[in-house]
Amino acid sequence: MRLSVIGCGYLGAVHAAAMASIGHDVVGIDVDARKVDSLSRGIAPFFEPGLQDILTAGIESGRLRFSTDMADAEGAKVHFIGVGTPQQKDGYAADLTYVNAAVESLVPFLSRGDIVAGKSTVPVGTAADLAPGIEAKGATLVWNPEFLREGWAVQDTIDPDRLVVGVVPGADGDRAAQVLREVYHPAVAKGTPFLVTDRATAELVKVAANAFLATKISFINAMAEIAEVTGADVTQLADAIGHDARIGRRFLGAGIGFGGGCLPKDIRAFSARAEELGRGESVGFLREVDAINLRRRHRAVELVVEGLGGAVFNKRIAVLGAAFKPHSDDIRDSPALDVAVRLHGLGAQVIVTDPEAVENARRVHPQLTYTADRDEALRGADAVVVVTEWDEYRRQLDPAHAAGLATGRLVVDGRNCLDAEAWRAAGWTYAGMGRP
Ligand code: UDX
Repeated sequence: MRLSVIGCGYLGAVHAAAMASIGHDVVGIDVDARKVDSLSRGIAPFFEPGLQDILTAGIESGRLRFSTDMADAEGAKVHFIGVGTPQQKDGYAADLTYVNAAVESLVPFLSRGDIVAGKSTVPVGTAADLAPGIEAKGATLVWNPEFLREGWAVQDTIDPDRLVVGVVPGADGDRAAQVLREVYHPAVAKGTPFLVTDRATAELVKVAANAFLATKISFINAMAEIAEVTGADVTQLADAIGHDARIGRRFLGAGIGFGGGCLPKDIRAFSARAEELGRGESVGFLREVDAINLRRRHRAVELVVEGLGGAVFNKRIAVLGAAFKPHSDDIRDSPALDVAVRLHGLGAQVIVTDPEAVENARRVHPQLTYTADRDEALRGADAVVVVTEWDEYRRQLDPAHAAGLATGRLVVDGRNCLDAEAWRAAGWTYAGMGRP
C-alpha cells in the first residue's frame, strides 16, 4: 500500500522504515532538510537498535524514500501524522503547533477516500478539532496511537502488544479500520489484539497508558522514600509485591525516576487537558507522581554529597550514563543528565560518560566534561554515580577494575542496577536508592 508518514523523528522515522520493511511503499516527509538528507542517504539520524538495518533495506528496495516536499504525500492511501507534541514553553499543556501545521500543509494534497491516521500523542479532543479540514476533502481522520518504547521501537512497531484505531462509528469508520488492518497485516495475522474505538477513546488510551506507567514508577519511588527512613529495601519489596500477578514486577524499578520525550510531558499535558475539561481533580494525583519523580533526582545528589562527607566542591565525580534510559541516545528530560548538572552546580568536577548519548548531551550541556571512554571517566574519581543502567555499567563493569581506576570508594547506584554485594566485597561504599 502507498503510505506517507509526516514527521520523521523518533516515531515517524521508525514508523516509515518499519512500514517499508513489511512491504509497503512509503514516503517519509519532514520539514528538517538535514534529517531528510540523512535518512535519504540511509543514515539513521539517531541511535535506535535495528533502525539502521531496516532503513538501509528499505532504501535499497526502492520502497522507502524521504522528502521535504509535502506534495510527495499525494497519492498515498494512508497518511500517518507522527510529528512531536512537546510541552509548551510557558505551561504544562501540549504544544500542538507541529500537528496543526502538518495537517494544514497535508490537506491540499489529500484525495477523496484517503485516510489520515494520527499517531502523535495529543490531548483528547484534538482529532475532533482537526477533522473538518480533512473531511472537507472527502478524506477520513482516524487516531492510531503509538506505544513504542525507545530502544525497542522497531520491534514495538512491527510487532506491537496491541493496535488501537479510533474512528467515527459508522460505515466510513469501519472501512478505515479495515484499511488499517491491511496496513498492519503481519501483526493482525498473528492475532495481535486490534481494538476499534471512537477517536476520543483512542486519544485517551495513549495518555492513560503513559499516566499509568508513570504512576507505577512513582509508586515504587515513594516506597523507596519510606524504605529510606525505615531501613527497608525497596528492591526486595518490589520483588515481593511484583509476584502478585495483579501488580506485576515490570515498571517497579526504583531509582532516579522517569524521563524522556514522553512520560514527563504526557502526564503534564494530561493534567492541563483535564483542567480545561473541568476534571482537574480526577488526575490531581499526577502532580504527586511528577513531584515524587523529581525528588528522586535530588535524592541521588544528596547521596553523593552525604557519601563525600557533606560537600562535593572540587571533587571529581564519574557519572555513568546520560541517556534517559539504556539502548537510547535520547537525553530529553533525562534524570541521568539532570543529576550530572546538579552535581556540577554544586561545584563538583563532573565527568560524564555514556555509550551513545555523549554527543547529544554535550550539545545541550556544554558546561560538563564528557568522554565516551568509561575507564577514562572512572580514572581518579572520588565518587562513581551510575544513572543509566547500560549493560556496560550494570554487567560489564567489574567493581575491582573500577577500584583500580578510581581514587575514592563511593558508588551511588541511581538505578539500583548494580550487584551491591559484589561492590562492597571489592571495597566500595555502596549507596542505592531506597536500599539500606
Ligand atoms: C514510554 C512508554 O513506555 C511507551 O509506551 C510510550 O509510547 C512512550 O513513552 P519510553 O519513553 O521509550 O516509552 O521509555 P520507558 O521504557 O517507558 O521508560 C521511561 C522512563 O522510566 C525511563 O527514564 C526509565 O528509566 C524509567 N523507568 C522505567 C524507571 O525509572 N523504572 C522502571 O521500572 C521503568
